[in-house]
Amino acid sequence: MATRGGFSSRLGFIAAAAGSAVGLGNIWQFPYVAGQNGGAAFLIIYVFWIFLIGFPIMLGEITLGRSAQSNPYGAYKKYGGKAWGLVGLFGILSGIMILSFYNVVSGWAFGYFLETAFGNLLEENDFSSFFGEYVADYSDNLWFSFGFMAITAVIVLQGVKKGIEGSAKILMPALFFLLLGIIVYGLTLPGAIEGVKFYLLPNFSLINAETIYSALGQAFFSLSLGMGGLITYGSYLSKQENILSSASLVVIADTMVAFLAGLMIFPLVFSQGQSPSEGPGLVFVALPGIFQAMGPVLGKIVGSSFFLLLCFAALTSTISLLEVAVAYLIDERKWSRRRAVSLMALVIFFIGIPSMLGYGAIQSLTSFTFYEGTSKSFMDLVQDIFSVIALPLGGFLLSVFIATRWTTAKFSDEISQGAKNYKGSFMEGFLNIMIKFICPVVLGLMFILTLLQKFFN
Ligand code: PFF
Repeated sequence: MATRGGFSSRLGFIAAAAGSAVGLGNIWQFPYVAGQNGGAAFLIIYVFWIFLIGFPIMLGEITLGRSAQSNPYGAYKKYGGKAWGLVGLFGILSGIMILSFYNVVSGWAFGYFLETAFGNLLEENDFSSFFGEYVADYSDNLWFSFGFMAITAVIVLQGVKKGIEGSAKILMPALFFLLLGIIVYGLTLPGAIEGVKFYLLPNFSLINAETIYSALGQAFFSLSLGMGGLITYGSYLSKQENILSSASLVVIADTMVAFLAGLMIFPLVFSQGQSPSEGPGLVFVALPGIFQAMGPVLGKIVGSSFFLLLCFAALTSTISLLEVAVAYLIDERKWSRRRAVSLMALVIFFIGIPSMLGYGAIQSLTSFTFYEGTSKSFMDLVQDIFSVIALPLGGFLLSVFIATRWTTAKFSDEISQGAKNYKGSFMEGFLNIMIKFICPVVLGLMFILTLLQKFFN
């Protein structure tokens, strides 16, 4: 059997897992979802979900993966039999569907990088219309998203150590410093303080059921949970590594980047008199105005660096999404890495085409009626099913699996390998209670409520 590969060091795992977590979810999606859901009020609920539910579920995934040394299907099947294997398969399917639209948005970021660096984007005077026309024009977008998938595939082809780990170690720190730089610049602009207030002073009257579900879905998406991505990465981790501290660092890094992305965007949005609830175009509409104001040379440099880094953040996530399906094909179907990567990448690219065409190119995909009275774009529909609903559901099933089949004793044993004083600690008690009781109850309830709200209003 071909060797499965593995991370070379603890830092390699942290960089790759943080690379998976930090992506468009933090920089593109978090600010616009927060903007649509009341800013600070959303942020507070988001952080609550991250630490209460996200952290234990992340540990659940990594421990299960490392213990089973297998892809999500193989891991569930190994300890729970074929029926539980279906949960793993469902996760793999969610990953495939998420990658299909994620790759389209990554293509936009790639196009914006080219437009900023070599095109005339910064000479426009209405960035909102530019964005609308840009995403509706599928001819360029087809190439950009194909190109993005091809780059993802080339890296995943190199395997775990060289491709996945090597790229993440360089790209993650670069992103962080650029974010800090743009924040500092944005805060000096007139009107910026209104954005800071919107983002940091909570107005609790804006919290409603929708804010609560959206924040949970966002937390799962952002941490790459609920579809087996971290089961897969955990399976490449050696037994000596301290999962507890590695997962803590990944959660902190991810939350920090989402927080900073909000702190970058809202001051810019308010200083330009735009609406914080602009939606998916927020990053693509708010930022070019700022780059333009910096003047032609500086604007080009900072603007193109920003979109390039957005591409890099997206790339470390597309890599992890593709790797899940690839690991399944290698482990279970005994395919070669080359065959698994090329076929999966191509298939997922094609699955993404309706999402791409649903931004203005084809009317029936732009405004898609799934259930009477609810009309959304095709991409929104895929996001609702495979991200907002499926990921928390995946987390629910994982916690039920650990509670009833794999057992919290095994979960605890796996963490304690590499975490010396874990056994008998407060943390052990806390995590066991969360996984066994709180996660199943809370996530089960949220699943039902989200389903009712999303599809049956
Ligand atoms: N966490 C990524 C982001 O925030 O952009 C998205 C993602 C990657 C979700 C990998 C799920 C996953 F398995």
